[in-house]
Order: sequence, then structure tokens, then C-alpha cells
Amino acid sequence: MTKRILLLHGPNLNLLGTRQPEVYGDTTLADINEAAERHIAPYSLELRTAQSNHEGELVDLLHDAREWADGVVFNPGAYTHTSIALRDAISAIDLPVIEVHISNVHGRESFRHKSMLAGVCLGQIAGFGWRGYLLALDALLRRWELLGD
Ligand code: DQA
Repeated sequence: MTKRILLLHGPNLNLLGTRQPEVYGDTTLADINEAAERHIAPYSLELRTAQSNHEGELVDLLHDAREWADGVVFNPGAYTHTSIALRDAISAIDLPVIEVHISNVHGRESFRHKSMLAGVCLGQIAGFGWRGYLLALDALLRRWELLGD
């Protein structure tokens, strides 16, 4: 059975590559989506990608994922630290969601230390740059026993 993954990017991540490269690196969102596609190519997986700068649209995309996806890899950007609506959406959809941050949010400003979402996610990956998305994909692959120890 092909498993389906939503790779979801939140606000300002459309600017990756030019946005504060000293924090987020020079990899673009398109590069990340392509690397994710390459990463899952050996497996029976389908990846769909989406990005939005709008909280309500991210809620809609998560609701929509309930209809077709088996898991979600999600960088919620700054909404991580503020959004009860996204937390409720993740709780509502009953899918494994992995929260990803490119930067180590715990080593930055104190307002980034708190995630409204991590408690309802399967787990959080932060601080490993864009490769964190691949680690998150591996976590789903392991959960589905498509990847061994
Ligand atoms: C981020 C960290 C957030 O605090 C920030 O608002 C972002 C990006 C990251 O990937 O490191 O937009 O999610």
C-alpha cells in the first residue's frame, strides 16, 4: 500500500534561500521539496508539498490531508509559537505529524522556545538545517516499517 505524505511549509518559508541565510541557510524551498522527493524515491510513497503564509489556509490543508494522507511533515514557521488553531487542527486530524524547524529554536529568542504544537505532534526535529526534513521523513518511514534500524 502506497503511503502518502504531506510536506507542509508555513509562513515566510517561501523566502528560504534569501531569508536570513545565516540562520536558515541558502537552500530554497524548491531545493528542499526536490531533496524530499529524491529521498523517498526508493520507497512506495507519494509526497505532496504545499506552502502557505496564512494560518487558516494551513488549517484547511491539514483538514484536507485527513482525506488522503497517512502522515504530515510540517514546518509551521512562526505559527509554531502562537497558533492554538493549528494545534487543534493537528489534534483533530488524527494523523502522525512531525514538526520540523531548520534552526535550533531552543537556542534562539525565548519566544521561540515554546511550541504550541509539539505536544500534539509525534515529535519535533530542530536545528539540523534543511536535512531535518529528511530526518522527519525517515521517522515516518520507520513508523511504517519501511525503513529498518
Ligand atoms: C522556523 C523557526 C521559527 O521560529 C521561525 O519563525 C521560522 C522558521 C525554522 O524552521 O527554524 O519561520 O520554523
